[in-house]
Amino acid sequence: MILVTGGAGFIGANFVLDWLATRDEPVVNLDALTYAGNRENLASLEGDARHVFVHGDICDRALIDRLLAEHQPRAIVHFAAESHVDRSIHGPGEFMRTNVEGTFTLLEAARAHWQGLEGEAKATFRFHHVSTDEVYGSLGPLDPAFTETKTYEPNSPYSASKAASDHLVRAWHHTYGLPVTTSNCSNNYGPYHFPEKLIPLIIANALAGKPLPVYGDGQQIRDWLYVTDHCSAIRAILDAGTPGEVYNVGGWNEKPNIDIVKTLCALLDELKPDPAGSYSRLITYVADRPGHDRRYAIDARKIERELGWRPAETFDTGIRKTVAWYLAHQDWVAHVQSGAYREWVEKNYTAR
Ligand code: NAD
Ligand code: TYD
Repeated sequence: MILVTGGAGFIGANFVLDWLATRDEPVVNLDALTYAGNRENLASLEGDARHVFVHGDICDRALIDRLLAEHQPRAIVHFAAESHVDRSIHGPGEFMRTNVEGTFTLLEAARAHWQGLEGEAKATFRFHHVSTDEVYGSLGPLDPAFTETKTYEPNSPYSASKAASDHLVRAWHHTYGLPVTTSNCSNNYGPYHFPEKLIPLIIANALAGKPLPVYGDGQQIRDWLYVTDHCSAIRAILDAGTPGEVYNVGGWNEKPNIDIVKTLCALLDELKPDPAGSYSRLITYVADRPGHDRRYAIDARKIERELGWRPAETFDTGIRKTVAWYLAHQDWVAHVQSGAYREWVEKNYTAR
């Protein structure tokens, strides 16, 4: 079996659902159920003995030791993190605790466990660390896309905490020989994406007739990847990645934010027309994010060359599926928009 951390969040839940649909290998899913973690994402696995959910914290060493001893996973896939840049600006402490201290705790537990293994079990054990392209910093308009050897230049508390965790993972391989792999992926989108991030926030606000907040001039560029393509990349790395190696994962799909917002408005106009007029009437430019990175772009040639991975979805197919999913899952959106969510919206948008 494999141990997944953060498997009740956006990407982790998609990974667990896809894994059990394609691999039939049991998963122990450790998640602290922060505001971003949601058991409802895993509702279709109720009663499935291949999924063992454990409510707990990656900073809890005793718990991780117990899970490793009890379940003897052949791999750890580490998603758990605080993941939202705007939240890291308002309150960086939790990012340092989960992303840095949590990754450290997990690495130490994995090292102790791995050192006690023998033969084939020791040789094939893997620790896969899920990271982000944001560790590389911001690109100018004509700069080449990020390769795996790009210098680290993190600019937000979030990306600095992820960069720190990447460095720990690297050092645990270099110093102790722990068989780690790391993926640095671009922006994901798709089902179960928490509506604090751009794409689900725009869909949720549009359907509620609320302003669609575009930071600054809306010309910041992100490289969007449909979430199930990220999941297939991680499976490819687990299957055939080389310990100690880093793989950049991206969708070959750079788009300015304002284009994303206009595309969402056009799709909603088609799929759920509003009698009041096009959703684009709600687009509202607001104050920029402090330290806002201008452009991210991933050069994903290494993972294609070495592991044969390429995204299956184009942006056109992925974004249409995503809008259709949100239209069909308005209950899910309503449930995650709890009191805590409303407090966040108040904190992040009222003063803008
Ligand atoms: P998310 O915020 O949706 O989910 C994070 C999950 O981790 C939640 O279920 C939360 O409950 C859990 N968690 C948080 N702190 C924990 C702790 N201390 N112990 C145990 N569980 C804890 O995040 P996501 O968007 O699914 O991102 C998953 C991973 O992928 C993160 O490491 C993130 O840095 C990385 N990543 C995300 C993107 C993206 O576009 N969302 C892109 C590249 C990489
Ligand atoms: P986000 O989804 O928070 O991802 P990240 O900051 O990790 O790239 O934001 C994507 C882009 O959209 C980013 O450039 C910030 C911008 N943005 C807005 O313009 N308005 C918003 O309300 C949000 C949440 C993001």
